[in-house]
Amino acid sequence: MTDHTFDFDRYDRVRPIRWTGDALELLDQRKLPFVVEYVRCESSDDVAAAIHALTVRGAPAIGIAAAWGVVLAARGIDAADGASALTEMEPAMQRLYAARPTAVNLGWALARMRRTLTAAGEDWREVIERDADAITAEDLAANRRMGALGAALIGEGSGVMTHCNTGSLATAGFGTALGVIRAGVAQGRITKVYAGETRPWLQGARLTAWELQQDGIMPTLIADAAASHLMKSGAVQWVVVGADRICANGDVANKIGTYQLALSARHHGVRFMVAAPSSTVDMAMDCGDSIEIEMRDPDELFGVGSVRTAALEISAWNPVFDVTPHELIDAIVTERGVIERPDAAAMQAAFGD
Ligand code: MRU
Repeated sequence: MTDHTFDFDRYDRVRPIRWTGDALELLDQRKLPFVVEYVRCESSDDVAAAIHALTVRGAPAIGIAAAWGVVLAARGIDAADGASALTEMEPAMQRLYAARPTAVNLGWALARMRRTLTAAGEDWREVIERDADAITAEDLAANRRMGALGAALIGEGSGVMTHCNTGSLATAGFGTALGVIRAGVAQGRITKVYAGETRPWLQGARLTAWELQQDGIMPTLIADAAASHLMKSGAVQWVVVGADRICANGDVANKIGTYQLALSARHHGVRFMVAAPSSTVDMAMDCGDSIEIEMRDPDELFGVGSVRTAALEISAWNPVFDVTPHELIDAIVTERGVIERPDAAAMQAAFGD
């Protein structure tokens, strides 16, 4: 391993969110990998519907889309300053907030846009547009920083496993866990990447595999149920995942299946890393028990795509996130640094401000 510099453009080409100046274009993640198509959102309610439908998904991407949703909500509002505009925009912002419950980045972005509006004068429209742009740029910069910090923990020639999609598709670009993997591959630390399918919505099979392929990294797909068998074989040294909410004690909500990966990793001596920007940290939430776990339509479990595979007239339970207790996590990586063996004291020291 000699060269640790990183050619970002070579390893990061996908962009899921585009602001055109008068509309928000979202790469339709329901249609990937076979159809690459952007959906045009012209109102904040279009954005809320797109977040709910998973047209755009992934915690940081949801926050960024919501920030642009606020910019769209300003349309047709005639107000002398930001504080007056906020009063009129509040119902639209509440609808954005209600689009999905688990990822804190949605509420984080809306709270930031509220603060920006409250402080803005007569140029409030330009001010919120600049802030939505800043949220996007800061996310990309945070991911690149996390990539470097997370990759540095991984030994040369390692195999890693990841879950869901945490890449450019889930962020402003580069990705969280997938950013760590991109950086690790570029530096020769990671020689093999395993991606879990991530039933039922198949973010791993449809999105992570496609996204890595675009950037010349060839992942090996595994059934979610093969993860423990893989870890037992000694082929992976790290499981690297993202997060939708990180609590004040270090508990982490992430895509359903993450918890069982952490349990299995601990059993097999495989290390477990969570990579997420500081916008995913929720110091107001003491521990994972209080996190609202999104429940989605049981229909998602009854088939693959539009093809029914389950017996008819049955019920299904479909929580789409779970909580990994902090005791099972070896490292939480944010753009602010690495927290090894996270707990309440370490989180307070890092994020207590
Ligand atoms: O339901 P999704 O696809 O929005 O869930 C996404 C995840 O759980 C990701 O792993 C998480 O948001 C981290 S994304 C950088």
